[in-house]
This record gives sequence, C-alpha cells and structure tokens, in this order.
Amino acid sequence: MPKEKPELSDAMRAKMGRKLPDKNPIKGTKFTIAISSAKGGVGKSTFATNLALALKKIGCRVGLLDADIYGPSIPKMLGIEEKPKSDGQKLDPIIKYDIQCMSIGFLTDQQTPMIWRGPMVTSAIRTFTQKVNWKDLDFIIVDMPPGTGDTQLTFSQEIKMDGAIIVSTPQEVALLDVKRGIKMFDKLNVKILGLVNNMSYFEGDDGKKYKIFGDDNVKKTAEEFQKEFLGEIPINPEVGKNGDQGKPIVEANSDHEISKIYINFAKKIKSNYLNL
Ligand SMILES: Nc1ncnc2c1ncn2[C@@H]1O[C@H](COP(=O)(O)OP(=O)(O)O)[C@@H](O)[C@H]1O
Ligand SMILES: [Mg+2]
Repeated sequence: MPKEKPELSDAMRAKMGRKLPDKNPIKGTKFTIAISSAKGGVGKSTFATNLALALKKIGCRVGLLDADIYGPSIPKMLGIEEKPKSDGQKLDPIIKYDIQCMSIGFLTDQQTPMIWRGPMVTSAIRTFTQKVNWKDLDFIIVDMPPGTGDTQLTFSQEIKMDGAIIVSTPQEVALLDVKRGIKMFDKLNVKILGLVNNMSYFEGDDGKKYKIFGDDNVKKTAEEFQKEFLGEIPINPEVGKNGDQGKPIVEANSDHEISKIYINFAKKIKSNYLNL
C-alpha cells in the first residue's frame, strides 16, 4: 500500500507557531455529539432525530442542532413551522417533543436553495453554537451535513466536541466517504464513538433478511479503522413514513422494534457520558 504523507498533529502545528483557535464547549450543555457520515442520504438526520428522542425517553435533557445549512431536514422531520424568538442578541431554541431544537430551516423559506459561501456557513454555525439559549442540557446532538467541509471543520476546530457517531449504509460508495470522514475526525482529534450500519437489511413477509445494500461492510470498516461497531438498523418503511409526518418513530411508537434499537443506542451513550 502506498504510504500516506504524515499529517501534522495539533501539537506539532502549535509548536510551529501557528495559533489554533480555542475550542469552546457549547454553553448550556454538558456534552456535544455529532452525527456524521460524509455521504448524503444514508440516514444521518433520521438517526440524529430518533437518537435525540430516545435520549429524552430515558430521562436525558436533549438539544438537537441541525448543522446542515444547505439542506436542513429537522424542521420537516419534527413538523416544526414556527420561527424562533430572539431578544436581539440570542435566539431561543424551539421546543418540540421536549427537545430544544435549532435549524437554519426555522429562519429561511425551506424551498429556497441556500447559496452561501464558506464563511457564511461558518458564521451560521457560530450563531447556532454561541448565540442560542440552549438551557440545562445533558446532550446536544448535532446533525451534520454530508461531506468533510466548512461545517465539520468549524465544529472540530472551534467547538469542544465530545464525540462523533458515523452512520453509513453498507454500499462501497458510501463507505469510501465514511473512510474520509473517519480520517478527518481522527486528524482533528474528535473521538469517534463508533459506526452504525443503517438500512442494513430488509425483512420480507417470509421472515427472510435481504441484505439489499451489501453485507457486513460497515462492520469491516469499523474493524479496519479500529473503531467500535455500534450496531445496525434495518430498513423499515415506517421509519420514513413517520419522519415525513413530523413524528419520528421513537416518538410515534416507542415499543416498535426500531425504536428499541434507538433506545439501546441512547442507553449506551447515557452510560458512557453520565456514568449511570
Ligand atoms: N432505517 C431506515 N429504514 C427506512 N428508511 C430510512 C431508514 N433510515 C433512513 N431512512 C430514510 O432515508 C431517507 C434519507 O434519510 P436522511 O435521514 O434524510 O439521510 P441524510 O441525513 O443522511 O441525508 C429518508 O427518507 C429517511 O426516512
Ligand atoms: Mg440530513
């Protein structure tokens, strides 16, 4: 295998005299966790929303930050149409299903495409992390956009991120992007909590499991990069239906088999961070 160019660590760059921006925690929360994947359409927003709701169900205080400036989906997934209030200085998050939420989609017409340059994206992320009245939260779950661009960089360099979960589908093309995402977080010293295989299989009426998008590729990638494999979520049409109706599956039916999977993920995270 060709040898990769060695990357500079933060410490090395600091030694060389280049000032690194300070990393600040988001005020109002104990922990900030990113849901990422590098690829679009793999179920990040679905995962972020249901995980946030699952954490709430097990007693945590949760915020949901939609960091997808170009394609926000939290307003639709949670059925939020109101605009956040502002005192001229800070924005109040919108509370839905007992979760504090913020999205660029609350502030703009959702059908108008966002034609923003990088610095504007960075400034929107700064607003959402510094100028929102997040209050008394255990966790802020950040729904990241696809890619390894300005949003990921701003978060990783300026915000104290407590962890990232990488969601992927099992196709090779999705995993190529995932590998880039893993390297980016590693380089930026953000701890990867693990990988999740979303849409891993479809269970037919015959009870057979059809691995439509591939086999154990996500697990193999986790092993390759020595990351934890957190588990899988099958394809289930109810997941999409509930998301489209503004009431995600964990909220609509917490006894559903998919909801139970999310609640298990949430329990893992809660015990990891809150030592319970
Ligand atoms: N486990 C699943 N089963 C069925 N549909 C799913 C599942 N996970 C996600 N989806 C659907 O896939 C589509 C893309 O999901 P989304 O969360 O918007 O992806 P991303 O944020 O990565 O672009 C949505 O229509 C969503 O409802
Ligand atoms: Mg999304």
